[in-house]
Amino acid sequence: MTTTYLITGANRGIGLEMSRLILQSGDRLYAVCRNPETATELNKFVQESNGRGQIFKSDACDEETLANIADKIVGGIDVLVCNAGVMSARGGLGDAANNASSVSTVLMTNTAGPFFTARAFHKHLQQSSAPRICIISSYMGSQQHQGTSAYFYRASKAGANNIMVTLANELKADGITVASFHPGWVKTEMGGSGADITPNESASGLINQFQALKLANTGSFLNYDGKPLPL
Ligand SMILES: NC(=O)c1ccc[n+]([C@@H]2O[C@H](COP(=O)([O-])OP(=O)(O)OC[C@H]3O[C@@H](n4cnc5c(N)ncnc54)[C@H](OP(=O)(O)O)[C@@H]3O)[C@@H](O)[C@H]2O)c1
Repeated sequence: MTTTYLITGANRGIGLEMSRLILQSGDRLYAVCRNPETATELNKFVQESNGRGQIFKSDACDEETLANIADKIVGGIDVLVCNAGVMSARGGLGDAANNASSVSTVLMTNTAGPFFTARAFHKHLQQSSAPRICIISSYMGSQQHQGTSAYFYRASKAGANNIMVTLANELKADGITVASFHPGWVKTEMGGSGADITPNESASGLINQFQALKLANTGSFLNYDGKPLPL
């Protein structure tokens, strides 16, 4: 049976590789990104998909545009992947880049973005027989990960995990499974070239986990290989 996915931040990094794998496997994809006009690789994968892919333009924090996209989509969404994310200033207490503007961007994108995305596409998840919301978080957001830097990235992903738990509680009655995921330390623009794993290793692991998700596991925080992680 074909699975229908929607992915935010689909134009590069882990989101692009998940998009490529989903289209290659024969599934259907709504790919959301801020600048489709410059998303060369994503456009190529969608063009080669025989109509199974469609690209929409939106910021992950733009509620109105997300709602307009939701109105254009006909039919259900099985797996909603809230992947779009940004790093904060990476330093410690003295990092001057931790200012009101950068803090607002990281909290809005990483914490509020998944909430706005879930709200916009809730009606499409309700049309699925196995609806799932998958939030790409980070182990840096776990209270057990003892860091000394990147304050607001950590806080934003802790917030994303908290949003995940509240969504899981609220949407359980609808039969919607909600979980968050650590994608590994991945060689992307965010992860850098010294990271542990490739986008392909991360994306293929994540997709396996999305496919295995059941309502009994709602509220979980999982590694890309399925290992449970502490919130
Ligand atoms: N790489 C890692 O090691 C790692 C580790 C843990 C967690 N993560 C998480 O994994 C996810 C993907 O990361 P990545 O490594 O693939 O990062 P990346 O290569 O930097 O890509 C980030 C993606 O998010 C999009 N994005 C950022 N802000 C957005 C916004 N306001 N609205 C819509 N799209 C936005 C970017 O779009 P533009 O091209 O328009 O900027 C891009 O598509 C993120 O949530 C990240 O926090 C990554």
